[in-house]
Amino acid sequence: MHFHGYELSPVIFDEDIQKRVHEIAKKLSEKFKDEVPILIGILNGSFIFMADLIRALDIDCEMDFIKLASYKGSQSTGTVRLLKDISADITDRHVVIVEDIIDSGLTIKFIKDRMEDAGPKSITIITLLLKPDVAILDFPIDIVGFEIAPEFVVGYGLDYDQKMRHLPAIYRIEKE
Ligand code: IMP
Ligand code: MG
Repeated sequence: MHFHGYELSPVIFDEDIQKRVHEIAKKLSEKFKDEVPILIGILNGSFIFMADLIRALDIDCEMDFIKLASYKGSQSTGTVRLLKDISADITDRHVVIVEDIIDSGLTIKFIKDRMEDAGPKSITIITLLLKPDVAILDFPIDIVGFEIAPEFVVGYGLDYDQKMRHLPAIYRIEKE
């Protein structure tokens, strides 16, 4: 499809994302039956995934957000910077990290280490998308929505220079 001067091809359709988000919500609801986990969304990318995920949960939950920067355009800078920390006290809490996409693995590693320092009861990591061919991870990701090829994607929260986050499906950019 054409979108403001870009040619986009669908990678994951809206309906398939919604179906998977509901499956993930079911898993989480079963895992934390009778508990109230705190979901930590990584801004900005995960806000749409987080919004859909929490509304599909059967359990109660709390949520907070953390904001990092590691990307410029479509190129990773290789460093992670904390822009906004969580406000909640996560000591002795069941923490669920909600990420949009794991590319190099740098961001998720930074967040996991930071959360661990606060002494939570447990940490569960969820990512909607994972690029297994490029991600370097020395710990398991508990729930992966979809594995994708190592290509740059946009939509469903994911941006290209802060744009295209609001597209309901996930697309690759074919050309400008
Ligand atoms: P990592 O630290 O390299 O794993 O990158 C993670 C962060 O980079 C994600 O939270 C996204 O914000 C961003 N990112 C990585 N790959 C993509 C992509 O294909 N499209 C849009 N953003 C991406
Ligand atoms: Mg992100």
